[in-house]
Amino acid sequence: MLSRNIVYKSKQILEFYSSHRQRWKDFYPSEQWVFKKVAAKKKIIGDVLDVGCSCGGLAAALSQKFKINSYTGVDINEETIKWARNNQKLPIAKKFISGDILKQKLNRQYDWVVSLSCADWNIETNKIIEYCWNKVKPGGYFIISLRITKAAGINDMDRSYQCIDFSGKEDNPEVVNYVVFNFLDTLAMFGGLWPRPKIIGAYGYWGKPSPTARTPFKKLVFAVYYIKKDTEDLNSNTPTLEIELNLPFDFLSAAILRKSRVGCPTN
Ligand SMILES: C[S@@+](CC[C@H](N)C(=O)[O-])C[C@H]1O[C@@H](n2cnc3c(N)ncnc32)[C@H](O)[C@@H]1O
Repeated sequence: MLSRNIVYKSKQILEFYSSHRQRWKDFYPSEQWVFKKVAAKKKIIGDVLDVGCSCGGLAAALSQKFKINSYTGVDINEETIKWARNNQKLPIAKKFISGDILKQKLNRQYDWVVSLSCADWNIETNKIIEYCWNKVKPGGYFIISLRITKAAGINDMDRSYQCIDFSGKEDNPEVVNYVVFNFLDTLAMFGGLWPRPKIIGAYGYWGKPSPTARTPFKKLVFAVYYIKKDTEDLNSNTPTLEIELNLPFDFLSAAILRKSRVGCPTN
């Protein structure tokens, strides 16, 4: 597949991710909430594809809570994959692949396809999302973190970007895309996936953009979406779609709900 994605080379990616986000407790409450929700009561979550895995810490983190059958991590930054191959010693079937996800010919599907801060950290966000969805098994889940706003979204690196400078000491930091989605656009985008999803869910909360980001937004909702692929009947003419939103009420009310007073007591 043709790709305009940037091949990130900054040494800061390895430096940061080899010592962060390696254990369950290192993951955000929104990510933990969604993992637990999607795993439900199942102890075995099956085969996991981690898109933009960096040093592969998600494998270790999930293994603390669930049983994984296999873990495949893909990252465009070569150094993180070298590190993961040498350092992630978990006793599960695992594979680490170096390269742009859009150039991978993975000829199988997975129970969970996860993209945490990856699709919205590069140029071809929509193509990465479509690629990930194609790799989800029927009945499986696509889990993706996105920054959302009720205003117009941005996918334009001239206006919204992040400097890879986790140490705060970089003179000439490499720059990454900092995509922000309009909330309703995310529902339209996921609802438009094919095969149609069975469930679109999201959990998130307000936060400030990273201090290393240059973006017009003062605050955003940081959301993790879980999108379930139906098990069968993918071509049904009357499919149903369940939407589960655990997002701040003031955000949802501004983004979608009518400011109606119907039902309010009057005096
Ligand atoms: C912000 S880091 C997040 C790492 C990890 N997912 C986590 O949440 O801890 C984003 C990672 O995605 C990788 N990445 C960006 N674009 C990619 C692409 N097109 N294909 C594969 N990896 C990509 C980057 O190299 C980086 O390691």
